[in-house]
Amino acid sequence: MTYKIVSKKELAPTIKMFEMGAPVVARKAKAGQFVILRIKERGERIPLTIADANPERGAITLVVEEIGKTTKELGRLNEGDSVLDLVGPLGNPMDIRKYGRVVCIGGGSGVAPVYPLTKALKKAGNKVTSIIGAKTRELLILEGEMQETSDEFYITTDDGSKGHRGFVTDILRKLLDEGKQIDLVVAVGPVPMMKAVADTTKPNKIRTLVSLNPIMVDGMGMCGACRVTVGEKTKFTCVDGPLFDGHLVDFDELAARRQLYEPEEKRALKAYEEKIGGADDS
Ligand SMILES: Cc1cc2nc3c(=O)[nH]c(=O)nc-3n(C[C@H](O)[C@H](O)[C@H](O)COP(=O)(O)OP(=O)(O)OC[C@H]3O[C@@H](n4cnc5c(N)ncnc54)[C@H](O)[C@@H]3O)c2cc1C
Ligand code: FES
Repeated sequence: MTYKIVSKKELAPTIKMFEMGAPVVARKAKAGQFVILRIKERGERIPLTIADANPERGAITLVVEEIGKTTKELGRLNEGDSVLDLVGPLGNPMDIRKYGRVVCIGGGSGVAPVYPLTKALKKAGNKVTSIIGAKTRELLILEGEMQETSDEFYITTDDGSKGHRGFVTDILRKLLDEGKQIDLVVAVGPVPMMKAVADTTKPNKIRTLVSLNPIMVDGMGMCGACRVTVGEKTKFTCVDGPLFDGHLVDFDELAARRQLYEPEEKRALKAYEEKIGGADDS
């Protein structure tokens, strides 16, 4: 069975949004879960978060940032093309209930995985404050969707080209300094960003959930490639997560493990780019 791309939209020059026909996944998916996808027979398996699910259309939405060979290959596919495998929903859904005031933070392409959480938290009756950040305004994604599901909405860019100039944590700190009651913080984005958010909320003891992004292979708890240390215990992100208590995560170990295959990834990307420079990419 293959999985068809129903629609494709460019959210930013290197970020594409795909709607994929996957009726079973669409029916079962809950906020916080992901799929593992393989483009073709000789392709690798990569995890991608279910950014939205539409059971009536039998489709799920995936947002892909092109950072290496497989994501670039995926980014070149178009409406009507198919991928070979799509397994899911995987991982634990978030415990969606009424917490009170929740601050949802998305950094870079991490806005895509935080969006379904924001939407579900709002629907469950929470007051939602969202902060989304990117390097520049061109890299901000899902701005309208995030604003629509938030009671309070902030944008930050590193270069100040839109919203506050600086980091998402500047706004979080401002909210804390104003003495605002915050019952839960959820952050998804680059590892240094999630670490900075957890460091900001730790002194105030505000519960902080982060969605971890280690290297995955099977996504079903069978290999341990995705292991992380949380509260000095080893956890497998694909079955125990991907959401964890940010105050207990060993972020430095996560960052180091994510770089384990850097030379191989660079070689694969170089070879792929040389290949698509001329011939077809089958
Ligand atoms: C639970 C989870 C959800 C994710 N959701 C999204 C999403 O919604 N959108 C999105 O764009 N990205 C998401 N990612 C990250 C995405 O899986 C990687 O960007 C992708 O695997 C990179 O593959 P590549 O061949 O293009 O890049 P590569 O050149 O192979 O790798 C670039 C970097 O990506 C990471 N990476 C490489 N292989 C894997 C792998 N098999 N599993 C996880 N990380 C890997 C490594 O840190 C590496 O340094 C998610 C990751 C996890 C674990
Ligand atoms: S990816 Fe293999 S155990 Fe999680």
